[in-house]
Amino acid sequence: MILLTGGAGYIGSHVSVALLDAGLDVIAVDNLSNSNNASLERVQSICGRSLAFCHADIRNEEAICNVLRDYEVTAVIHLAGLKAVGESNAEPMTYYENNVLGTMRLLSAMKRASVKTLVFSSSATVYGIPAYLPLDEKHPLGPTNPYGRTKFFIEEMLKDLCKSDPDWRVGILRYFNPVGAHESGLIGEDPVGIPNNLVPFVAQVAVGKLEKVRVCGNDYDTPDGTGIRDFIHVVDLASGHLCVLNHLKQPGALTVNLGTGIGHSVLEVIQTFEAVSGRSVPYEIGERRTGDVAACYADPTFAEKTLGWKSVRSLAQMCADHWRWQSKNPDGYRGAQYQTNKLKFRVG
Ligand code: UD1
Repeated sequence: MILLTGGAGYIGSHVSVALLDAGLDVIAVDNLSNSNNASLERVQSICGRSLAFCHADIRNEEAICNVLRDYEVTAVIHLAGLKAVGESNAEPMTYYENNVLGTMRLLSAMKRASVKTLVFSSSATVYGIPAYLPLDEKHPLGPTNPYGRTKFFIEEMLKDLCKSDPDWRVGILRYFNPVGAHESGLIGEDPVGIPNNLVPFVAQVAVGKLEKVRVCGNDYDTPDGTGIRDFIHVVDLASGHLCVLNHLKQPGALTVNLGTGIGHSVLEVIQTFEAVSGRSVPYEIGERRTGDVAACYADPTFAEKTLGWKSVRSLAQMCADHWRWQSKNPDGYRGAQYQTNKLKFRVG
């Protein structure tokens, strides 16, 4: 049985599908602060299998410890956490409490239950301002905001833990920019309020909920002047979790980039989205966004060499799948009438 923290979220729902499809059993834990467990009912429909759900916060060590023991969990995939950069500047302590303290409590519960295999969701944000591109795992770390620092501190903590006790096996996954949705259009990203990230924003313009995209700067040193990022299909990202889990045979911490290695500009994303959706996506050029870098993309060769994993889905497919989800669910999971596949529900 695999415990998935943050299991009801965007990444969590897609990782659930990957695990269930691989024949593994899943208990998802989520405090539902930024997610909706309707996503997990839909996961069950996609996979034709059920999973268990526990409504609990990772800071509740007793609840997590009970779940680990009751469900005979053998490994944990830890995705729960807060992730908005702007909010982390305004409320750093909330970020440290949820992300760092939450992880410490989770690790303590795992130790008590003798579960010492963990996959952790980190972010390419730990690299900070790129000194060179593409970013390989040896690139120096220097996060530039509290959110990024929580990921960095957790990574360091996990490495120290592995050094102190050879029973721990830890995968640290540095995500680049996850976008897209499951091809069924049943699960996808459901941001609360106005999206901060590019692709959800573009999707809401295409569906008519927002008027136009503000392109944050067109004077970067890039071919078209707009920012370049490594967008990765969330289904490819999810399969990376399964691969790393299968490769955690050796003690210690394994740190891996999950990216495509290909950079796409903001304007390329807008044009591709227009092409696959058949909708127009009006935009205007605005000021640069504070804290943004010109370009950021992965060197994914270590993942391929070590895990045999690489992304296979193109930007067009990311946009097409994101559009299918957005157009079928213009209001996300809110008002979802999908109650055919009831979850096995427990409150921690
Ligand atoms: C952001 C976070 C990063 C986090 C990631 C999660 C910042 C500075 N970084 O990455 O820490 O891990 O999300 O997915 O917030 N853009 C526009 N208009 C918009 C929104 C974005 O032009 O309305 C541009 C940005 O300037 C950037 C690109 O689109 O060049 C991608 O932005 P975004 O989707 O927010 O991702 P990141 O900033 O790379």
